[in-house]
Amino acid sequence: MVHTVSVLALMAAAQLPELKTPRPAPEQPLPFSHKIHAALLKCNGCHTMADPGDFAGLPATAKCMECHSAIRKESPHIQKLAQAHGAGEKLKWAPVYRIPEWVSFNHRQHVAVEGVTCESCHGAVAQREVLRRERDISMQACMECHRQKKASNDCLLCHDRR
Ligand code: HEC
Ligand code: HEC
Ligand code: HEC
Ligand code: HEC
Ligand code: HEC
Repeated sequence: MVHTVSVLALMAAAQLPELKTPRPAPEQPLPFSHKIHAALLKCNGCHTMADPGDFAGLPATAKCMECHSAIRKESPHIQKLAQAHGAGEKLKWAPVYRIPEWVSFNHRQHVAVEGVTCESCHGAVAQREVLRRERDISMQACMECHRQKKASNDCLLCHDRR
């Protein structure tokens, strides 16, 4: 029994820990709901992890218009979306999760690790109406998972590009 519990504890730790106090949700240009949209499309339908896979990436307005040229056209939010799309303007989504650019991090390599999914580091996104930072992305939190998964914690692993 004790053994089972400790194995489960180890498995549960192979993710970023929850923040005790989540960051407040930043103001976004549109009230975009992951709860609605993740029921319609897989994460990688919008977050395509373009080569080399460092960034998950955000969808262009053309992706949104695949549906919204027809769906909810009468909504003022969708009119704002269509207007930006027509003018060739990007939507200025406010960042939720960011680490300094001098820290190496690659999305594709992390989701390739067995047992690691988007939810391991971002929480139950598909249940969220609004995203806010709810997981800890500090150096300590990165290193804790590396320890659990027996990945290197050499300083140069994450700090080699300066
Ligand atoms: C229909 C397109 C779409 C789908 C499907 C989608 N997303 Fe998103 N995602 C967005 C948009 C647009 C934003 C920016 C607005 C926001 O933060 O809510 C975003 C933001 C995010 C962010 C925060 C980005 C940042 O700046 O830190 C995370 C994390 C995320 N999505 C994860 C996911 C995960 C995990 C899934 C699957 C469960 C998913 N998304 C499915 C469009 C999508
Ligand atoms: C091992 C932890 C981890 C996993 C797994 C992970 N992310 Fe992230 N995510 C991060 C970190 C750390 C950042 C901040 C990265 C930065 O600032 O360069 C981030 C940033 C983002 C962003 C905003 C910046 C960008 O890269 O475009 C989006 C969108 C996002 N993640 C979506 C996803 C989706 C979708 C998945 C699953 C396919 C996923 N993440 C899996 C840790 C993770
Ligand atoms: C696969 C189809 C699909 C895609 C792609 C899609 N949406 Fe949606 N979206 C929907 C559906 C369905 C609803 C819910 C409509 C309803 O409530 O009747 C919705 C609702 C919305 C709403 C709420 C509209 C309102 O005022 O009621 C916003 C805002 C929105 N989407 C923005 C976006 C953005 C921004 C993108 C691109 C990042 C996007 N959507 C991509 C299908 C889609
Ligand atoms: C869920 C567990 C987990 C979390 C959280 C995590 N990592 Fe990792 N990371 C791994 C594993 C496992 C590997 C080894 C992957 C391999 O060898 O294919 C790895 C590899 C890496 C690599 C080396 C990739 C390469 O080039 O071989 C870097 C850099 C890295 N992680 C940075 C980070 C940073 C920065 C964070 C925090 C923002 C972080 N990781 C959070 C599990 C994690
Ligand atoms: C697994 C990835 C990873 C490893 C390994 C790692 N770091 Fe970091 N480090 C980070 C991340 C992520 C940040 C940025 C944290 C943040 O934004 O709060 C960071 C930030 C820092 C900072 C800036 C701190 C600050 O307050 O701004 C220093 C200095 C640093 N690391 C030194 C080291 C040293 C020395 C080692 C080796 C003992 C090391 N790091 C190993 C991921 C890592």
